[in-house]
Amino acid sequence: MESKTIIVAGANGQLGKSFQKIVFDWQEYNFHFFDSNELDITNKNALEHAFSSLKPSVFINCAAYTAVDKAESERERAYAINSEALDYITLFCIKNNTLLIHYSSDYVYDNGMKVPMGEEAPTSPKSIYAQSKKMGEEIIERSPVNALLIRTSWVYSEFGHNFVKTMLKLGKEKSILNVVNDQIGSPTYAGDLANATMKMIDQYAKKPFTGIEIYNYSGEGKISWFEFASFIFEVAELDIDVHPIPTSDYKTPATRPKWSVLDLSKIKKEYGIAPKYWKESVRECLYLLS
Ligand SMILES: NC(=O)c1ccc[n+]([C@@H]2O[C@H](COP(=O)([O-])OP(=O)(O)OC[C@H]3O[C@@H](n4cnc5c(N)ncnc54)[C@H](OP(=O)(O)O)[C@@H]3O)[C@@H](O)[C@H]2O)c1
Repeated sequence: MESKTIIVAGANGQLGKSFQKIVFDWQEYNFHFFDSNELDITNKNALEHAFSSLKPSVFINCAAYTAVDKAESERERAYAINSEALDYITLFCIKNNTLLIHYSSDYVYDNGMKVPMGEEAPTSPKSIYAQSKKMGEEIIERSPVNALLIRTSWVYSEFGHNFVKTMLKLGKEKSILNVVNDQIGSPTYAGDLANATMKMIDQYAKKPFTGIEIYNYSGEGKISWFEFASFIFEVAELDIDVHPIPTSDYKTPATRPKWSVLDLSKIKKEYGIAPKYWKESVRECLYLLS
C-alpha cells in the first residue's frame, strides 16, 4: 500500500462513528471522515474531488440507505445509494488504485435454508433494501476493483438508531412488549465490525491482493429478536414483561428473512479474526449507554 490514507464515507452512521472511535488504535493510518453532507456518494463530482485531493489507499463505504421498511416506498433512493453509487465509487477506486471496503447484509441470503450461510450460499433477496444491497454487490463484482465486501447482520451500537436503543426506550416506557421470536440471526456490535475491518485492512497493507473477496462478519451465537430483547432488559435491569410472537403477528412493509445466521469460518480462518460472543458485546454497548 503506497500511502495509509483512508476515506470513511457515511461517517455519521453507526459504523462510521464506530470507526471515528478507534482512530487512536490505528495511528499509522490517516483517516478522513465525511458525513453525508460533506460527501454524498451519489454525487460523482463530489466523489471525484475527494479521491483526487486525498488519493486514498482505502475507501471505507459506511454510507447506505438502511431504512428497511421505508425502502419499500422509496425504491429509487434506496437503489441510488445502495446500488448506483457503487458505479462511481468503483470507478474512482480503480483510477486511484484504492482498496474498497463495502458492507452488505445478511438479508441478501434469505434462501430458505436453516444452516449458517457461507459466502457461497445462494442469495435470494426479498425486500427492496435487500435487493438494492445485492445489486450494489453485483456492481462491485462486475468491476475490476480491489475490494473487501463484508456481509453483516443485526448491527447495533451506542450511536444512531438500532434495536438495542429502541428496546431501552420501550423498556422505560412500557410494562408489556411483544417481540418476534421466529427470525433467527446474530447481533453485530458496530465497534467490533470496525475493529475487524481495520485488522483486515492492516493485513491487506502488508500483503495486498487483487480482486474481490467476500466475507461474513457478525457476533458469535444465534438468537431471535425476542431473546435479544430479553437479554437487553435483563442487563439493563428493566422490569418489563416480554412476550414472544410470530412474524405473522407483527406486520411490516418489508419482508425479513426468518434465518440470518452467518457462517464465520472464512474470516476466522483467512484473517484470524475471532468475533466476540454476542452477549459480551451487548453488555459492552449497554455499559456505554448506561
Ligand atoms: N444496521 C443494520 O442492522 C445492518 C445490517 C446488515 C448490514 N448493514 C450494513 O452495514 C453498513 C453500515 O450500516 P449502519 O448501521 O452503520 O447504517 P446507518 O447507521 O444507517 O448509517 C448510514 C449512514 O449513511 C449515510 N448516508 C445515507 N445516504 C448517503 C449518501 N448518499 N452519501 C453519503 N452518506 C449517506 C447516512 O447519513 P444521513 O443520516 O445523513 O442520511 C448515515 O450516516 C451498511 O452498508 C448497511 O447496509 C447494516
